Amino acid sequence: MIVLGLSSGTSVDAIDAAAADLTLGDDGVLRMRPRGHTEYAWPRALRERILKALPPAAVDVAEVAQLDTLIGQELGRAGRRAIDDVAGGDVDLVASHGQTIYHWVVGARARGTLQLGNAAWVAEHVKRPVISDFRVADVAAGGHGAPLVSVLDALWLGREDTGADGAGTGLTAALNIGGIANVSLVGRVDDPVTGWDTGPGNCLLDVAVAALTDGRLAYDRDGELAAQGTVDPVALAALLDDPYFAAPAPKSTGRELFDTTYTARRLASVRPGLTGPDLVATLTELTAVSVADALAGRDVRRVVASGGGARNPVLLDRLRAALAERVPHACDVVTSEALGLPVDAKEAYLFALLGFLSAHGLPGTAAGEHRRRATGARRAVVLGSLTPPTPLPWPAASGPVRRLALANTPHGLHPGPRTQGPLPDPTKGTSR
Ligand SMILES: Nc1ncnc2c1ncn2[C@@H]1O[C@H](COP(=O)(O)OP(=O)(O)O)[C@@H](O)[C@H]1O
Ligand SMILES: [Mg+2]
Repeated sequence: MIVLGLSSGTSVDAIDAAAADLTLGDDGVLRMRPRGHTEYAWPRALRERILKALPPAAVDVAEVAQLDTLIGQELGRAGRRAIDDVAGGDVDLVASHGQTIYHWVVGARARGTLQLGNAAWVAEHVKRPVISDFRVADVAAGGHGAPLVSVLDALWLGREDTGADGAGTGLTAALNIGGIANVSLVGRVDDPVTGWDTGPGNCLLDVAVAALTDGRLAYDRDGELAAQGTVDPVALAALLDDPYFAAPAPKSTGRELFDTTYTARRLASVRPGLTGPDLVATLTELTAVSVADALAGRDVRRVVASGGGARNPVLLDRLRAALAERVPHACDVVTSEALGLPVDAKEAYLFALLGFLSAHGLPGTAAGEHRRRATGARRAVVLGSLTPPTPLPWPAASGPVRRLALANTPHGLHPGPRTQGPLPDPTKGTSR
């Protein structure tokens, strides 16, 4: 089955699209052949509207309804284009994450989560069944609905048992550095997995860089500003003092906590004047140190980094340095690309995987600790909603998935550019 995954993260930078051909064997091995990926920039006006609707803004229900429609239409247009761009027209199912607009967390529990981008609009454009709303079933089962990626990490990066020789021990930490950063800690293939949001990835950095450059830059490309600055230890300590970092996993967070005013609020009493490259260097260090702290003392031998933050060499260097002081053994930091999933497309491939699992009646979360799921949920649930609801497109799977094997093909069958501008707006008279 060929599934197109569509996603947009908390950075609201682009709609990521990736298509994968998935086949589940009788051996419980799900073979995934990446077909290609691309991304479509959000149209500027819609992106600004989405950002304006994120916390700490208060938006009215009319705006929410309109955004649900407009985002759904844009995802639909992107999906329709991507079916040709990355899959040669050959897609059976579209798995659409939507745009998170609010992730409702109270204390240690997620209470709800809202992704906009109405699936009826997506289905109208892509003319394929659409699975959407992946997170809420897990929240309803007592989980955080995040990070969902731990199921991919568990199936993909888990070690096969190596026997008594002791070779291949230790844990792999799969780290996605999007707006928010999350990790999955993976050991042997059948071991329970833990996954949680470590805190800010790029979100505070992006806000600081946009403010420093009057909106000229949306992010610190290749860590250039951070490299010119010096970390302010007092400011760093004040930022790290947030109780979120000390709270136990599983836990999830979002822009509700790490919002556009967060840095200024936390630094108001200690370093109100901190600005320029020093602020960028300090926020880069915050991401690196908060990730390394989350892994401190654990037998992590390998970090597999993905997300846009994996393109920031200063951030990865700071992470290597922070890890070296905190984990007991030498720990490699590599990118997911080195193992077959491009850093920009891992999340979109995740949704392709989740779409496949849901379409076959299989749960979309990995087994976690204490008889819970990796997301903290009490039980394994099939994620998402199918649009239209009938006919049911595929028979249920005959057994569970034990392992994910990436087909060993050269990546990126997509011949066009990896990054594409916004799609033409049909209401502005451009017909396609
Ligand atoms: N070359 C780069 N250098 C530094 N940061 C980058 C680079 N490319 C992307 N990023 C960061 O990655 C972010 C997008 O990452 P992404 O994984 O798409 O996050 P999300 O899942 O939240 O949308 C950008 O906002 C930017 O902060
Ligand atoms: Mg993104």
